[in-house]
Amino acid sequence: MEMGRINSLISTSALLWLIFVLENVSIVYGNAEGDALYAFKKQLRDPNNVLQSWDPTLVNPCMWYHVTCNFDNSVTRIDLGSANLTGQLVSQLGQLTNLQYLELYNNNISGKIPQHLGNLTSLVSLDLFRNKLEGHIPKTLGKLQKLRNLRLNNNDLTGTIPYSLTTITTLHVLDLSNNNLRGYLPNNGSFSLFTPISFANNPKLKLPVVVPLPPAPAPAPAPLNS
Ligand SMILES: *[C@@H]1O[C@H](CO)[C@@H](O)[C@H](O)[C@H]1NC(C)=O
Ligand SMILES: *[C@@H]1O[C@H](CO)[C@@H](O)[C@H](O)[C@H]1NC(C)=O
Ligand SMILES: *[C@@H]1O[C@H](CO)[C@@H](O)[C@H](O)[C@H]1NC(C)=O
Ligand SMILES: *[C@@H]1O[C@H](CO)[C@@H](O)[C@H](O)[C@H]1NC(C)=O
Repeated sequence: MEMGRINSLISTSALLWLIFVLENVSIVYGNAEGDALYAFKKQLRDPNNVLQSWDPTLVNPCMWYHVTCNFDNSVTRIDLGSANLTGQLVSQLGQLTNLQYLELYNNNISGKIPQHLGNLTSLVSLDLFRNKLEGHIPKTLGKLQKLRNLRLNNNDLTGTIPYSLTTITTLHVLDLSNNNLRGYLPNNGSFSLFTPISFANNPKLKLPVVVPLPPAPAPAPAPLNS
């Protein structure tokens, strides 16, 4: 065999080997999660450069600041409270299926809460309080059946409180105060635990209708003693 042919065979197999290795590295959650987070970053204004380390060319986002992963290199936490971020939530965040903590409180995030966040079924804390969120609370959030903390207070949320939230039996801390929610406040399921403090300062929110008990039968007249 002539040299050129051997060389090209060697480089072809080296290339195939490289492809094989890269495929296997990225098969573990690949960079789909990094891509999802980068889609979020791309439309944020970040004057304090807290997202400077979010480099989409890394194999995964696990080395980025404010991101925590599990041993499978899948994202479990985003800690970006009080980070002075301006922008919107993106539907791609719903792809982080092992996410347990989404901490984005006290920023300047506007727009709607994407329905896709209902796909984050590992979520334990959803903390979006003190932002500029508007629109309805998506009823898909009722799919978050491990949620313990749901804090959406101090935004500009409108619409009614979805009944689906009453089915989250793990719910421990609920704060929907200081919004513009309307309609009747659910008081069944997990909501039976929460006091009006959780819903304070939503001027259009109505307390649930209390169905009056039927009047007690009048006591039988006491027999006349002779
Ligand atoms: C937030 O960013 C703005 C610029 O958009 C800056 O003027 C302000 O000082 C920042 N605030 C904090 C607390 O870093
Ligand atoms: C907050 O976001 C709005 C746009 O939604 C922008 O006009 C305003 O400048 C932002 N505020 C700060 C402090 O960055
Ligand atoms: C995530 O949620 C959205 C809206 O709720 C839905 O349309 C979509 O199919 C879901 N995606 C996955 C991967 O489950
Ligand atoms: C609470 O009541 C609403 C409306 O009647 C219902 O859709 C919802 O499933 C109830 N929640 C629970 C936990 O039973």
